[in-house]
Amino acid sequence: MKNSAFRIVAVPGDGIGLEVMKAARAVLDAVTAKFGGFALDFQELPGGAHCYRHTGTAISEESFTVCGQADAILFGAMGWPDIRYADGTEIAPQLDLRVRLGLYAGARPIRAIPRVPTALADPRAQGIDLVILRESTEGMFASRGRGEVIDDREARDTQVITRATSGRLFDFTLKLADRRRARGRPGLATVVDKSNVFRSFAFFRKIFHQRAQDFPHLQARHHYIDAMALDLARRPWDFDVIVTENLFGDILSDLAAGLVGGMGFDPSADIGDDPGLFQSCHGSAPDIAGRGLANPTAMLLSAAMMLEWLGERHSIDQCVVAARVVEQAIDRVFSDRRACPPDLGGTDGTAAVTRAVITAL
Ligand code: NAI
Ligand code: MG
Repeated sequence: MKNSAFRIVAVPGDGIGLEVMKAARAVLDAVTAKFGGFALDFQELPGGAHCYRHTGTAISEESFTVCGQADAILFGAMGWPDIRYADGTEIAPQLDLRVRLGLYAGARPIRAIPRVPTALADPRAQGIDLVILRESTEGMFASRGRGEVIDDREARDTQVITRATSGRLFDFTLKLADRRRARGRPGLATVVDKSNVFRSFAFFRKIFHQRAQDFPHLQARHHYIDAMALDLARRPWDFDVIVTENLFGDILSDLAAGLVGGMGFDPSADIGDDPGLFQSCHGSAPDIAGRGLANPTAMLLSAAMMLEWLGERHSIDQCVVAARVVEQAIDRVFSDRRACPPDLGGTDGTAAVTRAVITAL
């Protein structure tokens, strides 16, 4: 922390990224003013698919450097289906940043918010409270930009799993399960893979159980990805911390978000060495972009995760408390039905939900 203020780089990106970033900035301003003890110095940078269209680069080298020197990075959403590289893939600088900053642990909490309808009628769905940890720098995504299409006849992408990254990821996983255990969760970590078929996944699972030996008081389990897809839809309340490969985590976290209200409620943190990157899991939502309809909750929860991470990392209690207060304000907005966004069938747009959260602070 420099000059008693955290340096935050904000990259709104594309589509609803701009709208939810505005919401996050407003809530962060409000909560910072309320608490004191810390300040957030924002620097907003261009980046994303439209930036690529206008300038020829998705995020400039200078911006990458500024991101690397920040205390934390807040991303909106990036990508636009019509804007693509020549190989047909999309512009996704958030993926580049995860790799360049070594942000190997993509944490995606899935929590039932009071009175936000869950996809499952079972009353136990109200107790859904799990975290999916998506490895975010290798796995199948290691092939990004490297896959080959041979004579328009055959295509290949190759998965990479390393002991170094997997070991760090599993240590992060087990420590998280341990911290959650102190808050009453079951102390359960589950690795998700396809080790019945692929050597890379058998290696992944082996490293998980090796690391888990250092945490004998935790339950370390394994699950195949296909069975996990089933069980997340059938009994998600039985899981606590789930850790998996990049592509599997990408898919499973959207599935899990669908259980607790959809993409509008799914925050994330990409954690590595330094700095952390915080972003809602959803994309730029071209179907609703520019109309003020986006549910900002996922982004506001991501902003709260940023405050918690900064506070814990720099031992600033007010910052951790501020994170909790934002989360509680969001819960209150929904539990008291103070706002109902369109993705829940209501008519309160981004600004109305944001105002309701600020009032609840
Ligand atoms: P998406 O997450 O943007 O949208 C999927 C569906 O969820 C849409 O119907 C959308 O309206 C809805 N939705 C998403 N966020 C919402 C919110 N906050 N409130 C209400 N409804 C919301 O995924 P899609 O359509 O597959 O991708 C659109 C673009 O975003 C693509 O260019 C894609 O590459 C990019 N993308 C970027 C991500 C990122 O920046 N981390 C993640 C996922 C996709
Ligand atoms: Mg995704």
